Amino acid sequence: MATITLDVNGRKQQIDVAPETPLLWVLRETLGMTGTKFGCGRGLCGSCTVHIDGGAIRSCVTPVESVAGKKITTIEGLSPDRNHVLQCAWIAEEVPQCGYCQSGQIMTAAALLTRKPHPTDDDIDGAMINLCRCGTYVRIRRAIHRAAQEGGGK
Ligand code: FES
Ligand code: FES
Repeated sequence: MATITLDVNGRKQQIDVAPETPLLWVLRETLGMTGTKFGCGRGLCGSCTVHIDGGAIRSCVTPVESVAGKKITTIEGLSPDRNHVLQCAWIAEEVPQCGYCQSGQIMTAAALLTRKPHPTDDDIDGAMINLCRCGTYVRIRRAIHRAAQEGGGK
C-alpha cells in the first residue's frame, strides 16, 4: 500500500492503495465515482476513458501511481452543471441507446475537440475508436459536428 495524492476534477484527494491499482478501480471503488465505466478491463473498448492533463486515456490499464500529481478529469468533472457543449449535442442528437459506453465516448470526443476544434469525418473516425455495442457511431459523429459548430473546441 502507498499513500497517493490525486487531483480529480480539480479536487486533491489522498488515497491509500497498492500503487499498481488501475485508476478505474480507484475512481469507482475508492472514490465512489461511477460515471466512468468498466467494460473489457483490457484497454480495448474505451468505456473507461478519462482525461489525464487533457488527453484521453484508458483508466482500466493505467496504474494509479502513474497519474499522481497529474490533472485527472472524469465525466463528472467535464462540466460543473452537465451542460458541456458535447453533452448538449449528445442529447440533441439522441446519441445514447443503452448508454453504457457513452461517458467514455464523450470524454474521447472532448479530448478530440480540444486538439481539433473543427474535426473532419476522418479526424472523428480516427479518434473515436471506442466501441459501442448499440452502434451509435453515426449519431456520435453528428453530435461531434454539432458541438464543433457550437464552439465545442474553445
Ligand atoms: S474497460 Fe478500459 S478499455 Fe475497456
Ligand atoms: S450506447 Fe449502448 S454500448 Fe454504446
